[in-house]
Amino acid sequence: MDAGRTNPEHKTRAAGGAAETPARVVLEARNLGKSYGSGAQTLPILRDVNLALREGEMAAIVAPSGAGKSTLLHLLAALDTPTSGTVYFDAKAIETNDDAALAAFRNRAIGFIWQRHQLLADFTAEENVAMPLLVRGEKFAPALERARELLAEVGLAERASHRAGELSGGEQQRVAIARALVTGPSVLLADEPTGDLDERNAWAVFELLERLHRTHRLTSLLATHNTALAARCGRVLGLEHGVLQSRAATAGASGTRGGEAS
Ligand SMILES: Nc1ncnc2c1ncn2[C@@H]1O[C@H](COP(=O)(O)OP(=O)(O)OP(=O)(O)O)[C@@H](O)[C@H]1O
Ligand SMILES: [Mg+2]
Repeated sequence: MDAGRTNPEHKTRAAGGAAETPARVVLEARNLGKSYGSGAQTLPILRDVNLALREGEMAAIVAPSGAGKSTLLHLLAALDTPTSGTVYFDAKAIETNDDAALAAFRNRAIGFIWQRHQLLADFTAEENVAMPLLVRGEKFAPALERARELLAEVGLAERASHRAGELSGGEQQRVAIARALVTGPSVLLADEPTGDLDERNAWAVFELLERLHRTHRLTSLLATHNTALAARCGRVLGLEHGVLQSRAATAGASGTRGGEAS
């Protein structure tokens, strides 16, 4: 279907060539739509989402509950299939009809932090973090070693052999962050990474994400309800009636309507 298709606009940008050429687009959504149900029961969630995430940027989506933030992040990570439109990674359409290519994309290109962090409660922190490496066939001992390195980066070296279910909410979120980064992705998608945390822990986790964004040279997109945290990101987007809009990057600022948020 979309296999191997390239987006002509990327070529135009690349050909632009002058000194002020913006960073390349890493992840892009064009005319993305998602509906649930069918016939008279069809419920459109995303109508026409356009988004171009440029290498190295950290952007936030701020929108009320039910607006479609998780739905959009899942589509961008190829965890779900759009009803219409296309997602491009490195200027190439994600091959939604090729299971092996999709699995590789999910496992290597994108780090995903789930809204409910989805850790395996009975497994240790290091086993949880190593899981994406084991899924892609790496050996147990080096996978665990890499997991411990990531846990040290998120400040949890001492907790590596604790069961995930015994960790605090903030610690579990750090484990989820380590797991999202263990495969060395270039893009981090984080679905309300501070949603369940008190204010102090929320800031600590956000500052950790900012640091990892820099040290791992990520391109990051966060969904959040927290306008103060979002305002620390380079770009703030709203999601209203299934359309993304650019918003002024200040806490509490109201959105300005616009079809394209790139
Ligand atoms: N599998 C599904 N089948 C039917 N409707 C769904 C499905 N998944 C999500 N929806 C609906 O899509 C809408 C958007 O859901 P989504 O989870 O993307 O919102 P959200 O912005 O992430 O909300 P929250 O801030 O509460 O996490 C909701 O009305 C939800 O009920
Ligand atoms: Mg959500």
